[in-house]
Amino acid sequence: MNKPQMKDGMKVRQSRFPVSLFFVLLGVLLLMSGIHIGLVVLMNTYSLPIWVQTAVPIAYWAAAAFGLTCYTKWRMKKSYDEPMQILADATAQVAQGDFSVYIPPYHTADKLDYLDVMLSDFDKMVAELGSIETLKTDFFSNVSHEIKTPLAIIQNNAELLDMEYSDTDKEKIRIQAILQATHRLNGLITNMLKLNKLEKQTIKPMPQRYDLCAQLCECALSFETQWEKKNIDFEADVEDRVLIYADEDLMELVWNNLISNAIKFTKPGGRIRLKERTEPDHIRVEISDSGCGMDEDTVRHIFDKFYQGDTSHSTEGNGLGLALVRRILELTEASIHVESILGKGSVFTVSIPVIRGVKTDE
Ligand SMILES: Nc1ncnc2c1ncn2[C@@H]1O[C@H](COP(=O)(O)OP(=O)(O)O)[C@@H](O)[C@H]1O
Ligand SMILES: [Mg+2]
Repeated sequence: MNKPQMKDGMKVRQSRFPVSLFFVLLGVLLLMSGIHIGLVVLMNTYSLPIWVQTAVPIAYWAAAAFGLTCYTKWRMKKSYDEPMQILADATAQVAQGDFSVYIPPYHTADKLDYLDVMLSDFDKMVAELGSIETLKTDFFSNVSHEIKTPLAIIQNNAELLDMEYSDTDKEKIRIQAILQATHRLNGLITNMLKLNKLEKQTIKPMPQRYDLCAQLCECALSFETQWEKKNIDFEADVEDRVLIYADEDLMELVWNNLISNAIKFTKPGGRIRLKERTEPDHIRVEISDSGCGMDEDTVRHIFDKFYQGDTSHSTEGNGLGLALVRRILELTEASIHVESILGKGSVFTVSIPVIRGVKTDE
């Protein structure tokens, strides 16, 4: 038999089924056997027909077995299923990044058992993870803000110097390298701050009704010089007008990131297709490319912060684009799905629910 252990000076029971319960069960069974014998004696005394003398004990034990089975099931549900279900739901919430989860203990402090201890340890673990997450995001935003000002000074001075030198000067190449680096760093900091604000929900989406098709075409056109430079065959197949209810600026970031990735990861002479369709319950936007594609392991991580699959491209971008995309779509209650074949290309599909997007011809 497991002895109670101590936790913070309190006794902790090591079983959810106390020994007394087995004695109670034994007592109940003995009592029922006694009633059975009593019944048999009574039926004999009154010389009841033989079929009654057979049927009554059968019915009696069937009812007893049913009662005991229901009781056992109820005990199991109370003791294991319910707490485990609560724990499973809480774990799923934590896995999605919600550290505000708290599971209260089942018993008061003087009647703790090992499951109460497990739940309180879980609460402690989640609180600890939450504080680390807060520390991390605060650190990110503080550092990003501190870097912004000196970076702006470097960038402004490099731009002034760039204007002072002519294209033939050898200093020009160095200044342009500095300018390029400052632009990259600026992009990284802007993305980090935006992602941080979206995660901490300090910027909330400001949904409004706007034409998704016009936005898709504008975004695609803003990349025209880039796809023409790479001689990419860009095909847009969108409907005439679809009104959706979402934050226009944030959705623009989504399309810009997906289209810029498609261009970045497609070799010169490749093909990119932008397709938009209204389905019965959602609006589907598909951005497919004939680029380098990804293996399963890469696909699993592309939405992680700072993840860059192909290191040969890591000089461009910072691995935050798709993390931003996913966060924005989460806040918009839309979803993203990726299908990719290594060496063949990728398809990114965004589904915006129609409850939020209303198709009208007004
Ligand atoms: N269209 C695509 N084709 C192939 N790989 C892609 C595509 N889009 C994204 N990826 C992969 O996902 C990774 C993360 O993308 P992203 O978050 O936009 O970061 P970045 O563009 O800065 O590398 C990329 O480094 C790349 O490995
Ligand atoms: Mg990107």
